[in-house]
Amino acid sequence: MNSIVKAHFDQVLHHLYINPLEKCNLKCKICYTRKTNPILSNEEMLEFINRYKKEQTIETITFCGGEVMALATFPKLVNVLTRQGIFIQIITNGTIDRLDEFETPNLINLITSLDGLPTYHDKNRGTGNFAKSIAFMKKAHEMSFHLDVFSIVTHQNLPFISQFEQYLQDQLGFLPVVTYHPRKPPTYLTVHPVSNIVGETEGFDFLNREEMLTLMKTKNVFPPKDLGCYQIAVASDGKVYGCCEGTISIGTLQDEITTLIANLKQRLETWEKTNTLHNCLGCSQSEFMCGIKQYLLELQTYAA
Ligand SMILES: C[S@@+](CC[C@H](N)C(=O)[O-])C[C@H]1O[C@@H](n2cnc3c(N)ncnc32)[C@H](O)[C@@H]1O
Repeated sequence: MNSIVKAHFDQVLHHLYINPLEKCNLKCKICYTRKTNPILSNEEMLEFINRYKKEQTIETITFCGGEVMALATFPKLVNVLTRQGIFIQIITNGTIDRLDEFETPNLINLITSLDGLPTYHDKNRGTGNFAKSIAFMKKAHEMSFHLDVFSIVTHQNLPFISQFEQYLQDQLGFLPVVTYHPRKPPTYLTVHPVSNIVGETEGFDFLNREEMLTLMKTKNVFPPKDLGCYQIAVASDGKVYGCCEGTISIGTLQDEITTLIANLKQRLETWEKTNTLHNCLGCSQSEFMCGIKQYLLELQTYAA
């Protein structure tokens, strides 16, 4: 592994990603994930985390879903982890206010999903949900939680990004870091075996090539332009992947931690052997790359 990728890989091992469930309280029109049944118990997650801690220091755990705030005992799990000094990130739609149940707001980053201005957001997520999420964010800010925003970008809301940021600034009194998620393109959806729901396209068109390149050039995006978004990622069915969007697992929750780490490392070694991108931090699924390889290649051609 080249030294930059190796240094990044070593850092990544201190950050786990866990998806305890796929069920959600909302029915977003453009959500790409399947609402399957399995749910990881707190005991299963803690058993894995405790075994992992014997091999690596855990600095951060990011929880996603589904909607983790819908899990009755989720704050209890977070409190166990923050008591151990672990920084927790929670990707949430911000419509279920359980804020008072968390003991240490300053050790928690609430990554709240907002898909643009209120009317557009509610068109995807349901009437009244923008107001709920903003109220959640205001209360969280007052309580000293950290706040970031994830925002899905489509052909329709791309032209309103500046207005959206101004609106957030006005509402919250500050502008959180916003990571823009281009609506998962057909090159992602047609390849992913599970997270492959197309949903509605009327009023929510996929970005075209130029729009995708403009967004990637001008904004903080996910996946990031230089990749490196791999990590040990646990799914609700107990499979472990090399990133949050993985399609081919690197093992299961029951596997030895050293085996999982070795498997992730091997993925990156494979990536290096086949990689044609420059100055990139690597991908654990080089054949998939979330369907954005063509854009990354084009961006590098422009930059050259
Ligand atoms: C599947 S959601 C689960 C977490 C939580 N329920 C929420 O809404 O934030 C995880 C992230 O995926 C984003 N997302 C959902 N559908 C998407 C799509 N079609 N393209 C890109 N991102 C999407 C959401 O906005 C959210 O930030």
